[in-house]
This record gives sequence, structure tokens and C-alpha cells, in this order.
Amino acid sequence: MKDTLFVYYSLEGNTEFAAQTAAAAAEMDVERLIPVKEPPKKGFGKFFWGGQSVVMHHTPELEQLKFDASAYKNIIFGFPVWASSYPPAIATYLKFHKPEGKNCWIIACSAGGNAVKAIRKITDALEGNTVVDTLSLQDPAHDKEKNAKIITGFINKNFGKSEE
Ligand SMILES: Cc1cc2nc3c(=O)[nH]c(=O)nc-3n(C[C@H](O)[C@H](O)[C@H](O)COP(=O)(O)O)c2cc1C
Repeated sequence: MKDTLFVYYSLEGNTEFAAQTAAAAAEMDVERLIPVKEPPKKGFGKFFWGGQSVVMHHTPELEQLKFDASAYKNIIFGFPVWASSYPPAIATYLKFHKPEGKNCWIIACSAGGNAVKAIRKITDALEGNTVVDTLSLQDPAHDKEKNAKIITGFINKNFGKSEE
């Protein structure tokens, strides 16, 4: 049984890259949140659809989860910043599967590289848990070499291995 669960949502692959890189650096289970109905991946429609769904506090239905977060000590949340917040798939997860009394970490991916508001919002939503550390990444899949080092460093710092 692993201690750590990485829960994430990714529309365009950046958070997916962060999750895979983290999972390669330390023992953890990885839960990708997949909405039953996905937003458009291309064009301006994704910003409109996605932004509106955040503002309207949508909680889209998710495909069946693989892991039960209550069984883990540590939970890492990874997500793209949408409209300065966390995306609807994460909102659904927190509404129906909100952890309690866990150590939590947050990895936020954004185009601008500033995830302060989104991190504050998810930290508030995680009340009852301890947010131990956070990481803000700028579109990490756009520079995999650089960001793999940053992500691996973050995981090693927080999950016990010394940096290489
Ligand atoms: C609907 C939508 C809203 C977004 N809002 C923001 C934002 O407010 N600030 C920002 O810096 N980037 C924003 N972005 C860009 C993503 O956060 C960024 O590209 C992220 O790395 C994408 O992660 P993903 O590939 O895992 O989906 C938005 C993207 C989408 C699709």
C-alpha cells in the first residue's frame, strides 16, 4: 500500500506531464480525473467553455475513480489554472471526495506562471487538511527538460529523497 496519491486533471497535457514526472520520482498512485463530458481541446471555445464552467461553479460528472483517497496519508493535487482558480473536475472531486486530515501538496500549471489565487482557493477548499507545500509551473510540457528538474526537485524535497 502506497502512502501517497497524486490526483490531477489535465486538459492539454501539462499537468499530465507533471503527474508522470512526479510518479517517476517517488512511489505513489496516480488518479487522473476524467469528466464524462470533456470540454473542447482546441480553439477559443476551450477558454470560453472552461472559464464559464469555473465561474458557474460547475461540478461535472467524473468517470469512475480508481483509488480511494481516504486510504492515503498524503495527497498531491495537480491541475491547470482556469480563470485564476482550479478547474471544475477538481471542484467535483472536492465536493464528493474531499479528504480530511491529510497532508496535501498542490502543483498548479498555468500559462502565466502565477497561480497564487488558484492555490489560495484550493487551499481554502482543503480546509481540514494540511497544505504542506505548493509548486507553480508555467506550461511545464513546453520545456520538459527544465520542468522535469523542478518537479523532481519538489518531489524529492517533500518525499524524502535527497537531490541528485
Ligand atoms: C479554460 C482555461 C482557462 C485558463 N485560465 C488561465 C488563467 O486564468 N491563468 C493562466 O495563467 N492560465 C490559464 N489557462 C492556461 C492553463 O492554465 C495552462 O496552459 C496550463 O498549463 C494547462 O494545463 P493542462 O495542459 O494540464 O491542461 C487557462 C486554460 C484554459 C483551457
